[in-house]
Amino acid sequence: MQRRLNLITALLVLGQTIGRGMPDRPYDEHRERYSSSTVGLLKLLELELQFIENLKNYTDLLSAKANTLQDLIDSVDRGTEKTLAEREKYVSNPLNAFGLMRRTHQDWPKWHHYINTTVGRVELQALDDILGKAPDSQDMKEALIGMNRIERTYALEAKDLAKGRLLDKQYDIQLSIRDCLSLGQHKFQEGDFFRASMWYRMAIKHQPEPNAEELNTILGDPLKDLKLNYAKATIIHGLSTGNLSLSIQNVLNITEATIQKASPADLEAFIAELLNQTDDDISREMAAFEPSPTPYEIGCRGLFPKRTKLVCRYNFTTTPFLRLAPLKMEEVNHDPYIVLYHEVLYDREIEELKKQSKNMINGFSEPQQENKIREIIARHAWWWEQTTTRARIYQRITDITGFQLFVQEELNVANYGLGTIFGPHYDYTPENYDIGWFMGGPLGTILFYAGDLQQGGATIFPSINITVSPRKGSALLWFNLYDDGEPDPRTLHSSCPVIEGDRWTLTKWVHLVPQMFILPCQPRKVSQRV
Ligand SMILES: *[C@@H]1O[C@H](CO)[C@@H](O)[C@H](O)[C@H]1NC(C)=O
Ligand SMILES: *[C@@H]1O[C@H](CO)[C@@H](O)[C@H](O)[C@H]1NC(C)=O
Ligand SMILES: *[C@@H]1O[C@H](CO)[C@@H](O)[C@H](O)[C@H]1NC(C)=O
Ligand SMILES: *[C@@H]1O[C@H](CO)[C@@H](O)[C@H](O)[C@H]1NC(C)=O
Ligand SMILES: *[C@@H]1O[C@H](CO)[C@@H](O)[C@H](O)[C@H]1NC(C)=O
Ligand SMILES: *[C@@H]1O[C@H](CO)[C@@H](O)[C@H](O)[C@H]1NC(C)=O
Ligand SMILES: *[C@@H]1O[C@H](CO)[C@@H](O)[C@H](O)[C@H]1NC(C)=O
Repeated sequence: MQRRLNLITALLVLGQTIGRGMPDRPYDEHRERYSSSTVGLLKLLELELQFIENLKNYTDLLSAKANTLQDLIDSVDRGTEKTLAEREKYVSNPLNAFGLMRRTHQDWPKWHHYINTTVGRVELQALDDILGKAPDSQDMKEALIGMNRIERTYALEAKDLAKGRLLDKQYDIQLSIRDCLSLGQHKFQEGDFFRASMWYRMAIKHQPEPNAEELNTILGDPLKDLKLNYAKATIIHGLSTGNLSLSIQNVLNITEATIQKASPADLEAFIAELLNQTDDDISREMAAFEPSPTPYEIGCRGLFPKRTKLVCRYNFTTTPFLRLAPLKMEEVNHDPYIVLYHEVLYDREIEELKKQSKNMINGFSEPQQENKIREIIARHAWWWEQTTTRARIYQRITDITGFQLFVQEELNVANYGLGTIFGPHYDYTPENYDIGWFMGGPLGTILFYAGDLQQGGATIFPSINITVSPRKGSALLWFNLYDDGEPDPRTLHSSCPVIEGDRWTLTKWVHLVPQMFILPCQPRKVSQRV
């Protein structure tokens, strides 16, 4: 480590090439961000397809023009009259001389006019419109945060992610050099030098892009300063983990001084030495300093202590309806009561609820504050339209829980995006997010899973070590209040970032007031008193 330090400080001198993107429009927190929902990401993919089609159309027009101009060249370039004698012979014939006069007088201005016309005026205008819809820097930032969250929450590593490996699944997807670089730069700016250095390393080791030379003239050279920044991030990480009494400013200053002192040859050698180690060795060495995982991370990774298996059974008792159509019920926890019902939301209902995406607005996890840019955690909609599907779902909730619902009560449809989460929160504190409670606090919450999730996206209760893996069509029910109506803090819960899949939820808060006559107030059990 000492050797590394001496060599590397010189690296700090060079600034980082930050990926510059779309110029920003005035900030508007209600503008849809593509990254915050799969609905948004789908729109963005469609925009990219339009962009590609536009470029193809434009290129077709350019080639058509080039072909026409080639015809012009063919018509005038006869390939003869090379010598002065030949030229004299040519003009001395009146037929040639007249043709020459006429072409140069009459045709040239027309060709000029043709050459001077802008190719694809309409396409260029359309391109402007397409670019006007490109993601802004806030959207890009949230995508970076989302990727970082997936990486950290599940202890994934750049060396695997870059090659399309997500936990134990190998996908036929590779991040590009520019993707790796952008992730590295974000981590560097966030002060996560370990992960920054691993992403830089992946970018350095990446296969060169096909047509790199042409691409670089337009997109810039991703390799510029890359090795230097790799070395820089490595030194900073080494220094700050090697001597905990150094402040970050100290570390940066030492790094800077080291790099200034080092000769280019020393730097080269240092970087070559780093690159000569295996990814596994480097990542083991550096990860030794990682903080231990939080309860949230443990829960999302599915690593809470194993519980004795609770029962699964058919539940016939709640309403007469269930005697005809029993519920597949899985008890998740006894106190507080948490239960999972399977196959209670059908594909046709899911299709219908997804249509609510037309009414979706940005969902935030914190109240509005002046001048503060809030993170958007999802897109969501209040489903007020009284369709038969909505009525059927309300009836099913009553069948499942025995609770009374009024048609005018709210029903929430949410769709999550790239690494977005609803952080740990209680459903009984309206300050936590954008909804005011009416008809009393939410006695219970019923959360339907309406998306297909292959990996990640669990619901966790970190205070009581519970992880629930969502399954499309299932619904999770829990009680937020004790029997005496007081809030139960053990119901703190959170969603985990989706790794692969489409997280759609349908949430119904069952309010206290309409249940007054069904659920008499009871004293709290001794075991529940704090
Ligand atoms: C591309 O050209 C086709 C055929 O002329 C047209 O239908 C389409 O709208 C064009 N697309 C764009 C994005 O300009
Ligand atoms: C060439 O095109 C430009 C812009 O389209 C126009 O301003 C200019 O007058 C044109 N020149 C001629 C000679 O047509
Ligand atoms: C760690 O940093 C402190 C403060 O800069 C310094 O006094 C100390 O010598 C350093 N320790 C080592 C082991 O380098
Ligand atoms: C770091 O360097 C800057 C400018 O060179 C200096 O102002 C600052 O005091 C230094 N900080 C530390 C902690 O050494
Ligand atoms: C790279 O590592 C191998 C063994 O790990 C070693 O034999 C070789 O000398 C190293 N090369 C350089 C340039 O450090
Ligand atoms: C059926 O579900 C209801 C509501 O969750 C619960 O109160 C009741 O105890 C369950 N019945 C059985 C037999 O588990
Ligand atoms: C949750 O699990 C941790 C160990 O990971 C344990 O220390 C703690 O007591 C558990 N809490 C509950 C409420 O079971």
